[in-house]
Amino acid sequence: MMDILLERKSVRKYTNEDIKQCDLEYILRAAMSAPTAKNTRCYSFLVIKDKETHKKIAAAHQFSQMILQAPLAILVVGDQEKAYKNYLPQDCAAATQNILIAATSRGYGSVWCGVYSDEERSKAIEKLFDLPKNIKAFSIVVIGKSADNSHPKNGWDPEKIKYEVWK
Ligand SMILES: Cc1cc2nc3c(=O)[nH]c(=O)nc-3n(C[C@H](O)[C@H](O)[C@H](O)COP(=O)(O)O)c2cc1C
Repeated sequence: MMDILLERKSVRKYTNEDIKQCDLEYILRAAMSAPTAKNTRCYSFLVIKDKETHKKIAAAHQFSQMILQAPLAILVVGDQEKAYKNYLPQDCAAATQNILIAATSRGYGSVWCGVYSDEERSKAIEKLFDLPKNIKAFSIVVIGKSADNSHPKNGWDPEKIKYEVWK
């Protein structure tokens, strides 16, 4: 498992290969296994394969142009009426990260395109999908077979670790 975590990287170039349905289901199962504050499970997932919708997302979200080459994207949303206090973003972030890790483990490349907490982007995406008022767009994860051979970044930095006291 640790290897998969270290292998994950943002992939923005894809081959033409589709995502297998069984892999998609695994990825969504992983998403729904993410923890939520007070176990509200306030997240939901909109699977988007339609090319025309991909174009509309790219038009609404400046940093999601890789979607035009990808077979699939998942819009992660949270239900404000179900979420505990202000924990909706944390719950949806945990689900988003699980999607990235599950995709990596099944041999796909993926990238987290942030929607929350950019007000303009949130409005555009929520309008595009005609989301009810209580359903908040959190992220768009773009997924496809990777055409990027670069190595993952090495994030290891001992200076980020402190023991017992902040000094
Ligand atoms: C909250 C958040 C929002 C992000 N939004 C975007 C985005 O809109 N477009 C994009 O290409 N990458 C986006 N990324 C990916 C980051 O750019 C990427 O994780 C970072 O550069 C580190 O690279 P790595 O994922 O390969 O380790 C986002 C990541 C996070 C956590």
